[in-house]
Amino acid sequence: MILITGAAGFIGGNFVHHWFERLDSQGLSTDEPVVVYDKLTYAGNPNTIAAHLQSGRATLIQADITDRDAVREALHTHRPRAILHFAAESHVDRSIHGPGEFIHTNMVGTFSLLEEARTYWGALPEAEKAAFRFLHVSTDEVYGSLGDDDAAFSETTAYAPNSPYSASKAGSDHLVRAYHHTYGFPTLTTNCSNNYGPYHFPEKLIPLVILNALEGKPLPVYGDGLNIRDWLYVRDHCEAICQVLVKGTLGEVYNVGGINEIRNIDVVTTICRKLDELRPRESGRYEDLITYVKDRPGHDRRYAIDPTKIQRDIGWAPSETFESGINKTVRWYLDNTAWIDTVRSGAYRDWLTQNYAGRA
Ligand code: NAD
Ligand code: DAU
Repeated sequence: MILITGAAGFIGGNFVHHWFERLDSQGLSTDEPVVVYDKLTYAGNPNTIAAHLQSGRATLIQADITDRDAVREALHTHRPRAILHFAAESHVDRSIHGPGEFIHTNMVGTFSLLEEARTYWGALPEAEKAAFRFLHVSTDEVYGSLGDDDAAFSETTAYAPNSPYSASKAGSDHLVRAYHHTYGFPTLTTNCSNNYGPYHFPEKLIPLVILNALEGKPLPVYGDGLNIRDWLYVRDHCEAICQVLVKGTLGEVYNVGGINEIRNIDVVTTICRKLDELRPRESGRYEDLITYVKDRPGHDRRYAIDPTKIQRDIGWAPSETFESGINKTVRWYLDNTAWIDTVRSGAYRDWLTQNYAGRA
């Protein structure tokens, strides 16, 4: 069995679905169970993986990764052959309003997990010890911001994180690296670009724009809207993680990207046009709702991933284009209003007020 931290969140939740639905290179699916270790913060929603929890293939432990006793107990009770570490505070804007939680979860939490996992791994019988993996899921944001003509981020690009979020993820990456170098702990790290797809919490750009548009609310575009992100459909990211888990070389880092560099304003207009087609407004077009607002402080201009290494050494490549992925995503949000209702709590509405009130 594998233990997955943060699997009630966006990417981890999609990973659980992908784990049970994918076919491996021999065309076989797996019934290897998973343990979901998740604090269930505002971003964690067990409804995302309800079908797998009900079937018994997934087990949920509601606990914090900074709680070393709880981590130790989970490892000794379930005896995983691998840990996939997704749990994090993940939203750049929230890290600007309150960085403390990001340092605590992303750095102290990763440290706690590494310490307990290292002790657990050290006591395994030789064959299990040799097979054990700790896969750390990280972000392209650790590399900082690119100019228009700069080469895309490779695994050897120097770290230059610019937000409390990316600095905390950079710190966690360095800890993982050090645990491999110092203790021989069997780590793998992936640094991925912007994901989008089903079950994405609607504080991030793509789900926020879809849901605001459907409610006739302003579509907030920060600054001049010309910042560029490299968008990857979430299931492509999940497949990359599955393949790195099997084929990755210990201690190595793999950059994962969609080869889909798109300006924010073009992301927003693409969604608007898709909605015009699928759910036309009674009058006017969705683009009429676009509203430029005050920029994010320290807003990174451009991210782009060079995926040469993962393509060459692992054999992974994205299967969705932005057009096919956004089509699936918009349709998913139109068809899954029950999930959306469960995440739009009072706390979510408070966040919208906090983040957008001062930007007009
Ligand atoms: P998310 O915010 O949707 O989910 C995070 C999950 O972690 C939630 O279920 C939450 O309850 C859980 N969690 C938070 N703090 C915890 C703690 N202290 N203990 C246990 N669980 C805790 O995030 P996401 O977008 O799914 O991102 C998952 C990982 O992928 C993160 O490490 C993030 O840095 C990385 N990543 C995200 C993207 C992206 O575009 N979303 C891109 C690259 C990398
Ligand atoms: O690059 C990977 C990162 O992508 C992950 O590490 C993060 O966890 C994930 O949240 C994401 O970070 P971003 O800051 O790029 O994602 P977000 O959806 O918040 O913003 C995408 C772009 O859209 C960014 O340039 C800011 C802009 N934006 C965002 C919001 C919420 C807007 O213009 N308006 C908005 O209302």
